[in-house]
Amino acid sequence: MSDIPGYDTIRWQDNAVIMIDQRRLPEEEVYLTCTDYREVVEAIRALAIRGAPAIGVAAAMAAALGALGCSETDPRAFQRHFQDICQVIAKARPTAVNLTWAVQRMQTLVAANGDLGVPALKEKLVAEAQAMLAEDIRINRQMGAHGQTLIHDGDAVLTHCNAGGLATGGYGTAIGVIRAAWEAGKKIQVWVDETRPVLQGARLTAWELGKLGIPHILIPDNAAAALMAKGRVNCVVVGADRIAANGDVANKIGTYGVAVWASYHHIPFYVAAPLSTFDFTLSDGSQIPIEERDPAEVTRMHGRGIAPAGCPALNLAFDVTPHTLIAGIITEHGICRPPLPAAVAALQDAARSCPGA
Ligand code: MRU
Repeated sequence: MSDIPGYDTIRWQDNAVIMIDQRRLPEEEVYLTCTDYREVVEAIRALAIRGAPAIGVAAAMAAALGALGCSETDPRAFQRHFQDICQVIAKARPTAVNLTWAVQRMQTLVAANGDLGVPALKEKLVAEAQAMLAEDIRINRQMGAHGQTLIHDGDAVLTHCNAGGLATGGYGTAIGVIRAAWEAGKKIQVWVDETRPVLQGARLTAWELGKLGIPHILIPDNAAAALMAKGRVNCVVVGADRIAANGDVANKIGTYGVAVWASYHHIPFYVAAPLSTFDFTLSDGSQIPIEERDPAEVTRMHGRGIAPAGCPALNLAFDVTPHTLIAGIITEHGICRPPLPAAVAALQDAARSCPGA
């Protein structure tokens, strides 16, 4: 369950994956039903489901669907087919590492249970995908509990993009932190960046905060600096798509700019992300692959052109915020504080010695 009455981000039901179609929000709350793994892959590509942890859960469910669709009865033939399916899923989008993390977890499960027959293996994969959904919600709540200590009664908190229940199995990462502060009785207000070009802030974050009853005000992205200059922002909390070993953070395009403005105005800039969003194989953020999407997302809106016909446009979906601009990374294990390279290394050690904590 997403944890907001009335909708599920994603669920497994009767051997199908059901997700709220985020392209249609906030106007319509309609659900997509996927019975083939390729439909889930397309839903991820087209942003029907988006946000790093939600993409991870969707990828795991796609792998389970793919396994169910395999007709091989010989375990080795099944495993070969399953690997091919996993390769297709892993390529759905490049930046959010939760996608490959989830696919690898499903592949590891298959490798570790090579002695099982195909029907038992399929059952295990379906159970694992469902467990990953429940685990994601639990982890978000843990992050919320840690992160809410950084938010004070009366704070105005700015967020960018959507890192809420819709971007996760439920509860949210950055919005989970905000929500936990609200649930702890702190009277807060949220500045919601609209988040051009796909408007995840305007369409999704504002929708979620409205459902939760948390006071919020939508702003154009270019208003954030002026509000900071006027002392009307106390802190920033955002999510992440991939965090390098030194603490550099890839998140929705525009995040880096917000971090620079926050630093100039001495406003703490926090990132909330689960361990599954860390990529310890990359030493710094320059190695994070940045998705480039269709320029039409920039030149068109609501099916209409907003630029001269044929105008060239560049649509980088993410940017990288250097760790030096980040006051803390909130995880399910606690808060990493600067210097982040050392704190992230310690987090990796802690997670190794205590997986699942
Ligand atoms: O392109 P999107 O909508 O998938 O981008 C999502 C973001 O950048 C989120 O901030 C990030 O995934 C964190 S979600 C908890």
